[in-house]
Parts: sequence; C-alpha cells; structure tokens
Amino acid sequence: MLIGIDKMNFFTPNTYIDLVTLAEHRGIDPNKFTVGIGQSKMAVPTITQDTVSMGANASLPILDADDLNKIDLIVVGTETGIDESKSSASFIHQLLNIQPFAKSVEVKHACYGATAGLMMAKDYIKAHPGRKALVIGSDISRYGLNTSGEVTQGAGAVAMLISENPRILEIEDTSVSMTESIFDFWRPNYRDTAIVDGKFSNEAYVKFFTTIWEEFSTRSSYKIADFKAFCFHLPYSKMGKKALLPVLENESQEVSDLLLTNYELSTDYTRNIGNIYTGSLYLSLMSLLDSDDNTLKANDLIGFFSYGSGAVGEIFSGRLVEGYEKHLLKDEHQAMINNRYDLSIEEYEAIFTKELPKTDGIHPLSEAKYDKSHFYLSSISEHQRHYNERQ
Ligand code: COA
Repeated sequence: MLIGIDKMNFFTPNTYIDLVTLAEHRGIDPNKFTVGIGQSKMAVPTITQDTVSMGANASLPILDADDLNKIDLIVVGTETGIDESKSSASFIHQLLNIQPFAKSVEVKHACYGATAGLMMAKDYIKAHPGRKALVIGSDISRYGLNTSGEVTQGAGAVAMLISENPRILEIEDTSVSMTESIFDFWRPNYRDTAIVDGKFSNEAYVKFFTTIWEEFSTRSSYKIADFKAFCFHLPYSKMGKKALLPVLENESQEVSDLLLTNYELSTDYTRNIGNIYTGSLYLSLMSLLDSDDNTLKANDLIGFFSYGSGAVGEIFSGRLVEGYEKHLLKDEHQAMINNRYDLSIEEYEAIFTKELPKTDGIHPLSEAKYDKSHFYLSSISEHQRHYNERQ
C-alpha cells in the first residue's frame, strides 16, 4: 500500500521584522544575518496567535467534508504547547469540526515532533486502510531580545493530510533514527525562551546527519546520486548546507550542482519566515516544490533529515507522485509571505514582550491592527483559552 502526503499547507502570522532593520538597530553588520546566517525576514506573532490557532489556520484550507469524516488521528508536534495537560490537538479537532471518533494527541521532542507524528500516521493508515490522519507541526521560536539566537526566531505551522494513494509524496518504508541525550538546545518548563549552545548544536546536527546517513545508505542501498533533492530541518537557512556539503565531496559536479540548487530552493520560505521548529522540515519541502520550475518529476526521490535537539534525528525518503504539482498551494503560499505587515523595531519589541494574562477572571484579547488570521485566540476566561473565527 502506498502511503504519504496527500495534501499540505503552512501558515505563518502576518507580521514580521526585516532582519536588515534588526541588524542595524543592534549594531551588527547586516551581512552576518543575511549572508552568514542566511535569514532575511522573521515572523513575529502577536499574543493572539499560538500553537493551536496557527495549527488550525494551516489545516483549514486543505480539508474538505470527506477528509473531516475520515480523519481519525490528529497529531500535533510542538515544543511550544499551550498547556501541560490538555493537548493542542483537542482544540484543533474542535475548531476544524473533525468527526468525533478520533484520537487527538500532542507529541514532543524539540523540532522532531512532527516527524514522530508523520511516522505514527503512516503506521496508522497501514493498519486502517481508507482512513486518514492529520499531522501538524506548530511552534513559536523564542530566544529573547538581544540574544545570539534572536535572528533565528520565527513562528508558523505546517499541516499534512496523510492517506493511502497520496497525491503529493509517497513515503518509503526504510527510515533510520538515532537518539543521544545531549544539551545543545533546551527549554526548562519555567522559561518561555530557549537556551541554546549554538556551536555545539551545529556540530551535533552535522554529526547526526553524517552518522544516520551511513546507516540509512546501508539499509536502503541508496547513494547520494539517487536523490534529486534533500530537505532539511532548518533553524536558519544556512544550517542544512553544513550537513549536506561533506556528503557531496565525492560526488560528480553534476550531482553536487543539482543537490545544491535544490537545497537553495528548499530554504526560501525559511529565509523569509525564520525557525518554525517542528514544522521546519516540511516547510522546506513546500519551499522546494513551490519554487521548482518543473524540473522535479513523478517518481523523483527526495531525502529528508529531521533533527530535534536533545537529540533525535531521522532520515527517510519519499517519491513524488504523478501530477503532484496540481496539488500544491503555491500561489496561496507566496501571497501569504508577500502580504505581511512590516513591523518597526518599536512594534516588534512591544509585540515580543507582551504577555498573556495569568490571573483569574475574563480577559478579552484583541490585536486586530496586526492579526488578520482566520483563527485567533480571542480571550482567556478563568484560565481557559477561547478561539474565534474571523468571518
Ligand atoms: N558577513 C558575513 N558572514 C558573517 C559575518 C559578516 N559580517 N559575521 C559573521 N558571519 C558568519 C560567520 O562566519 C558564521 O558563518 P559559519 O556558520 O559559516 O561559520 C555565521 O555568520 C554565524 O556567525 P557566528 O559568529 O557563529 O554567530 P553567533 O555566535 O551569533 O551564532 C547562531 C549564530 C545561528 C549559531 C546562533 O544564532 C544560534 O545558536 N542559533 C540557534 C541555532 C539553533 O536553532 N540550534 C538548535 C536547533 S538545531
């Protein structure tokens, strides 16, 4: 049975900060951000966008009535959940009106959560032919103002409908994972900003890719030259290249040029949105397919490297399905990125430091000047989050 991604979409808040503006304000050479790290713009969510609203906003455009009746597994991968107990998936289940006899769970391992969800969904569909699963990765990346990680923040969600006979990407069976307990990036429960050892996390990421690739290549018998593209988890657009370059050293110029060209296409959305943590790898896939100019064909092999600090990594492969290009939301994606509000430094810092109310009582929330999204957090009432739909 062929199983994989039948439909997919992403959402990012409609407010961003330009990173040249940020660099100049911080007294840093803008080339460090735009060339050295490879980021141009960074999504900055208002308090009315969270893991739930972004996940629902990413999912809504890809689901029709048949999907809502057939989805019986909803997995949200996130490391920025909104409750230690109640899962974001149950809120999203209700906001989207998915049929009641469904499982809704949230899974966590840093930026790896959505891949864990994807693999769970694949196994679920294999055991329940004809049914569907919704996999979401939704996160807000925060390191803090004036930190070295500030330029690699961001916010957004991806949504993927997983089914048999998928219309975009068939996911193959061989995959290799690896776990090692390390502190390269982490966020204790009492903090709302992450702690990162930037150099160590870069080294761990490259080591995980190289080590897993060796094993994956042995088990799958695939060579680098079999792939038309590799998609990476991208905290910032330059990071995947640090892992890709060493494995290209012994490849022909033609193979190397193709994989580097497609790598650049896969980074375009990240460059303009920033780090969306667990959805990042799938944002890279959408960037690649939306940006490609009809060179990628049905049956082409794409490699995926998922990495969650702390750390879990996984490499798997997928094949494009005949007619896949007809099921991409390229125009909608590009419009979303192009029609955002460009924040001033003062607006960015005010939005970033604004906090949700934590006291008893009813607290209506409004950020109507900035937040034009369909689903948004509209109030916190006796510590319960309530969401509205913009008509
Ligand atoms: N012009 C061009 N490039 C410049 C530059 C300039 N003026 N100044 C610096 N650079 C380059 C550096 O050479 C370096 O490139 P390299 O990585 O190819 O060596 C890059 O810009 C970053 O500079 P660096 O001095 O290493 O920056 P930093 O100490 O401020 O750290 C990050 C940058 C990205 C490592 C840091 O922001 C971070 O830790 N981000 C989070 C990473 C993460 O998310 N990890 C966890 C998930 S996997």
